Amino acid sequence: MKIVAGNWKMYKTIDEAQTYVRQIAALGAPQKAGVQAILFPNYVALGALSGSGLVPPWLSLGAQDVAGEAEGAFTGEVSPAMIVSAGARYALVGHSERRHIIGESDDLVRRKLVNCLRGSITPVLCVGETIEERRAGTMKSVIFRQLDAALADLTLTADQHLLVAYEPVWAIGTGENATPEQIEEAHNLIRQHLASCLGDSTGRAIPLLYGGSVKPFNFASIVSLPSVDGGLIGGASLKPDNFWELLQIAGGC
Ligand code: PGA
Repeated sequence: MKIVAGNWKMYKTIDEAQTYVRQIAALGAPQKAGVQAILFPNYVALGALSGSGLVPPWLSLGAQDVAGEAEGAFTGEVSPAMIVSAGARYALVGHSERRHIIGESDDLVRRKLVNCLRGSITPVLCVGETIEERRAGTMKSVIFRQLDAALADLTLTADQHLLVAYEPVWAIGTGENATPEQIEEAHNLIRQHLASCLGDSTGRAIPLLYGGSVKPFNFASIVSLPSVDGGLIGGASLKPDNFWELLQIAGGC
């Protein structure tokens, strides 16, 4: 099963989001049943979409972020229960724009991840190194630090799920892709480390997504790599026909 996840970032008003979903629903379900489509709109559009009756059954929704607490005096934060009530089954956790622009710490990312698991949300844990870290030869230690901080001493129960997205920061929104060799290397390291953090069978079952300048023209060569279970796609998910094309490409693998 391949997963195609669209991260809309801070784009789309409610009207624009509804128009998009109307258009993609009109294109019909992805050809192959083995493709899981997920969209991550902003909170406002998320709530409006799930209440609109426009979202086709083959398209799941997720939130781009979530609070590290269940409820309380945390102005501006949105809890797992709130995003569930707005139709989300997934939440991005630790996206590089939140780590590097907003300044989220590894500790906060962990609290968000644990909060998702307690709140019946599947977290999509994003990890990845900056260009400076890659040049300094610390890609592996950065990714392992991010995984350890988020997952150490965690046990997933049978009904708790997790996805991990490898997104090299230098490839996000830059038009620059990691090479197939770089993706395979990072994914294999992540896979091994997940097994050591969470146990062999759990670690092996966690889907690994690649993200960073994925486009329809380069997706086939990425999503067909043995270590890649799907893509987390920003810019190319903003137009329904591009997202649709990505779904078809994943279905062809
Ligand atoms: P991009 O974004 O596809 O625009 O590079 C990916 C992401 O931020 O998840």
